Parts: sequence; C-alpha cells; structure tokens
Amino acid sequence: MDTIWDSKLYNEKHSFVSDYGASLVDVLNPKDDETILDLGCGAGQLTALIGERAKLVIGIDKSPEMIRSAKSQFPELDFQTGDAAAFNFDIKFDSIFSNAALHWVTDYNSVIACMYDNLVERGKIVLEFGGKGNVQSIVDQLRISLRKRGYKAQSELLLWYFPSIAEYSNALEVGGFEVAFAQLFDRPTELADETTGITDWILMFGKAFFNRVREEDIAAILAEVQYELKSKLFKNGKWYADYKRLRIIAEK
Ligand code: BEZ
Repeated sequence: MDTIWDSKLYNEKHSFVSDYGASLVDVLNPKDDETILDLGCGAGQLTALIGERAKLVIGIDKSPEMIRSAKSQFPELDFQTGDAAAFNFDIKFDSIFSNAALHWVTDYNSVIACMYDNLVERGKIVLEFGGKGNVQSIVDQLRISLRKRGYKAQSELLLWYFPSIAEYSNALEVGGFEVAFAQLFDRPTELADETTGITDWILMFGKAFFNRVREEDIAAILAEVQYELKSKLFKNGKWYADYKRLRIIAEK
C-alpha cells in the first residue's frame, strides 16, 4: 500500500529530513557539467541545492503530492512522478543521488537495476537511507502495542527495508556496482514537537500500521508507544527518533 503524503505537514514538522541531507549533497559534490538524478526527491529541497551546482538535475518521487509541492516551490526545476524500482530515462546520468527514500522500496534489486541502467559508464551513486536497526525502538514498541490489542497482521507489516552494510553492498556488487564507501551510523534525530514527537512521527510515516485499526485503539496505541519510549527517546525536554543511516558511494 502506498503512503499518501501530507506535504504541508511534512514541510512544517519533518523538515529535518532535508536539513540533514544537505551534507550528502556535499558528498555528491555536483559539478557544473554533470547531469544528476535525485531519486525519491520528496518536496525537492535537496534537488534545488543540487541544481545550484549541477548542469541539470531531475527529481523523481512516487508521491504526486510531493511532486506537486516540489513544482510549486521550485518551478524552474524538472520534477516528475516516478517509481524508484521502475524508471527509465532517454538520457544517462553522471550520478544518482538519493536521501531518506530508498528504505521505502522493498524491491531493492529493481532499484539497483534501474540505477545501473540509467547511469553513464563509471557513473556514481550517492545514497543515504535507513540501515539495519533504524527506528528499531519505535517499530518494536509499535508491534508490541498492536499485537497486545489483537492486531496481529498489522503488527507484522514489513513497510520498510533497512539493510546492513553487508547485505546492501552485496546486492550492489551483484547488480554490477563497485562499492567505494559504506557506513552505518547512529543519527538520533530531534523531533519537532516536545509533547507529541513520537506520535507525530508515527502518524506521518507509519500510518500504514493502522490499516483497519479502530480509531480508539489508534489513540491508545500511540499514547502507549510514546509513554513506553520515554525513558529511551526523551532527553532534556526533547524527543528523538533512533535513526541509523546507511551511507553508500558506489560506481558503475
Ligand atoms: C528514515 O528516514 O529513516 C525513515 C523515515 C520514515 C520512515 C522510516 C524511516
């Protein structure tokens, strides 16, 4: 099931996604003769940063709401709806960039094949997304609270793909890439709201867990998850999500 994005809420309360991604644009280091694809561009903030330095950038995202938001904020740039596991352009890109998107695509082999096919020879990929152990405390508690109320199928939902370095590097090598750099690191991420931090995060990103869950149970589960996580994820008056990032640079 596809997540329907509230791009206004995303821009207001979850802008940390693109704030953190700016450092990945520096890793990409776009040059003024390069053509770059931003895969899973969201509302386009990082696409715009890349566009300031590259010859051409195209942003694609599966969410029409996000593409609409990106086009209205950055009308001079090229944004298109597209699937990271099924895309094909007439041109080949010098680099493919992706921040905080690829954990949404469980068919990772198709993503790798598309990236390979759409790059020039020796083209580069620069990726960062959730890696093994990402948001583990939140997901574990959410599964416990769902199961406790009888929502077994929902508690077993596999919504995201958070691979280890070994698993993803191997998949890239099988797909024809040479991995130059791979790092898995903790990046506890401050959430915008001191009172509803975890609740907001789940409602923004994990709504699919509540498919066919009664409204009163959703409220109880959200309250319980946040309460149970307080000792671990609430520090000095702020909520943090226990993010773990997988950062990869590889060459075709
Ligand atoms: C992440 O950026 O790690 C993430 C965002 C939303 C859902 C799951 C993971």
